[in-house]
Amino acid sequence: MDAGTGSQERMRILVTGSTGQVGGELVKTLATLGEVIAPTRAEMDLTDAKSVREMVRALQPRWIVNPAAYTAVDKAESEPELAYAINAEAVRAMGEAARETGAAVIHFSTDYVFDGTAKTPYLETDETNPLGVYGASKLAGEKALAESGAVHMIFRTSWVYGGRGKNFLLTILKLARERETLRIVADQHGAPTWSRDLAEMTARVIRRCEELSGQNGTGSMEALRSMSGICHAAGSGETTWQGFAAEAVRLQRERESGISFAEIEAITTAEYPTPARRPMNSRLNCGKLEERFGWRMMDWRESLRRVLADVVK
Ligand SMILES: NC(=O)c1ccc[n+]([C@@H]2O[C@H](COP(=O)([O-])OP(=O)(O)OC[C@H]3O[C@@H](n4cnc5c(N)ncnc54)[C@H](OP(=O)(O)O)[C@@H]3O)[C@@H](O)[C@H]2O)c1
Repeated sequence: MDAGTGSQERMRILVTGSTGQVGGELVKTLATLGEVIAPTRAEMDLTDAKSVREMVRALQPRWIVNPAAYTAVDKAESEPELAYAINAEAVRAMGEAARETGAAVIHFSTDYVFDGTAKTPYLETDETNPLGVYGASKLAGEKALAESGAVHMIFRTSWVYGGRGKNFLLTILKLARERETLRIVADQHGAPTWSRDLAEMTARVIRRCEELSGQNGTGSMEALRSMSGICHAAGSGETTWQGFAAEAVRLQRERESGISFAEIEAITTAEYPTPARRPMNSRLNCGKLEERFGWRMMDWRESLRRVLADVVK
C-alpha cells in the first residue's frame, strides 16, 4: 500500500485505481492535500465488496476518491457480471461504508451513460440511456452510490487520455509511426479529457468542500450533503476521434520534423464496427462544474499540446 508521509493530523484520502490513468494523477496531485492511501488491487479488490467495506472501515478516510473501474468498453459486452461487480456493486459497498464511517465519496462516471441522440451537449439532468454494458454498469454505479446515503460527488467525463496508461493518443502516436495511413472514425463527437486536469479538478473540489465544511462549524462531512450529485467534467471544446488524431499527428510532426507520420483519414462508425455501440454525441455541458466549483476544464487542444510537450518524449 502506498501511504503518504503526512502526520496523524493530515486529512486521510483513500484513492483507488492508482495504476490507472486518472488514479495515477490523483495520487500525485492529492498528496498536497493530505495523507493519500492507495491500496493495490491485491489489497482491495473491487470484485469483492467485502474487501471494499473492510478497507474503508479499517482506514476511516475522510475522502474516498474512486477512479477505479472496469473500463474495457468492448470486452464488457461479453463480461457483464465482472463489469457490474466492479462498476456498480463495489461502488455501492464503498458508498455504504462511507455513510457508516462519515466519509465523502468522489466517483467518476462516463458520457457512455447517454445514447448520443441529443443534438446539443448533455446536461446532468438529461435522460440516460446507455448503449452497452459498460455504460449501463457505470450508470448502475451512479445510482448505487446515490442510494447508499453517502455524501458523494459523481464526475462524468469523456475520452480520457494522458501521457501514461493505455489510451487513444498513445495508440495513435505509435501506429502513426508504423503505418502510412490511419483510418479513424469522424462521426462521433466529443471532447478529449486530460487525466491530470481531472486530478487537479478533484483537488479543487476537495479544497472547496473543506472550506465549506469548516465554515459550517463542525468540519463534518454532513455539511457537504447539499453538494451531493452529478457534475459533468470533460475537456472544453469539441472534436471527433479523427480530429483528435489529426491534431495529435500535426503537432507531433512539428516536434519531430525528420520522422514520417501516417496520414489520418476520416471514416464513419459504420465502417469500423465494434462489439459495443458508442454514442455519436458524447459532448457534456460542464457549466455546473464551473458554477459550483469554479473550475473550467482545459480546452482539449491546449491539454493535447501540453501532454505532447511535457509528457510524451
Ligand atoms: N478512459 C476513458 O476514456 C474514460 C471515459 C469516460 C469515463 N471514464 C471513467 O473515468 C475513470 C478513470 O478511468 P481511467 O481511464 O483512469 O481508467 P483505467 O486507466 O482503465 O484504470 C482503471 C483502474 O481501475 C483498476 N481496477 C480495475 N479492476 C479492478 C479491481 N477489480 N479491483 C481494483 N482495481 C481495479 C485498474 O487496476 P489494474 O491496473 O490492476 O487493472 C486501474 O487502476 C473510470 O471511472 C472510467 O469509467 C474513463
